Amino acid sequence: MSEGWEVVLHYAILKGGDLDNVGVVSTEIKRRLQEIGVEDDVIKKVSIICFEAEMNLASYADRGGHLKVEVKPNRVEVVVEDDGPGIEDVEKAMTPGYSTAPLWIRELGFGAGLGLPNIKEKSDVFHIESEMGKGTKIYSVVFRRKDAA
Ligand SMILES: Nc1ncnc2c1ncn2[C@@H]1O[C@H](COP(=O)(O)OP(=O)(O)O)[C@@H](O)[C@H]1O
Ligand SMILES: [Mg+2]
Repeated sequence: MSEGWEVVLHYAILKGGDLDNVGVVSTEIKRRLQEIGVEDDVIKKVSIICFEAEMNLASYADRGGHLKVEVKPNRVEVVVEDDGPGIEDVEKAMTPGYSTAPLWIRELGFGAGLGLPNIKEKSDVFHIESEMGKGTKIYSVVFRRKDAA
């Protein structure tokens, strides 16, 4: 594998408020990572990160959002962006069990308030920034090698 080797995957999740297609993008990302030959334990983490991100785009971002996955020799980077309503209190949103999911989402068995904490737990590097009325951005990295930095 050469030094600059890198694959960038772009996915748009267009429609917010529609859970019918949730999982389609993260399943496709998982398939592509397997094809590329990324390690199974890394794929497992990235798949969970992407699924939870996809779920949140569909649940909370009115116009959906965008997922970018970059596969590098040492790491997989995931950037999730939306121009939805934003998160009022990010620290609160990161608390396990905190959720503002509406009833219709809870009735489907989602909205346990564990998505963002799960993304953080599976990430080696995790940043979230959000501004009310502007949107939300998540940056997550999963290392492919123990010595990666
Ligand atoms: N992309 C987003 N845009 C606006 N709010 C969000 C977004 N992602 C998460 N949130 C807020 O953070 C809360 C916690 O998210 P999460 O941990 O995934 O749990 P859940 O989705 O089960 O509520 C959500 O209930 C919602 O209020
Ligand atoms: Mg969620």
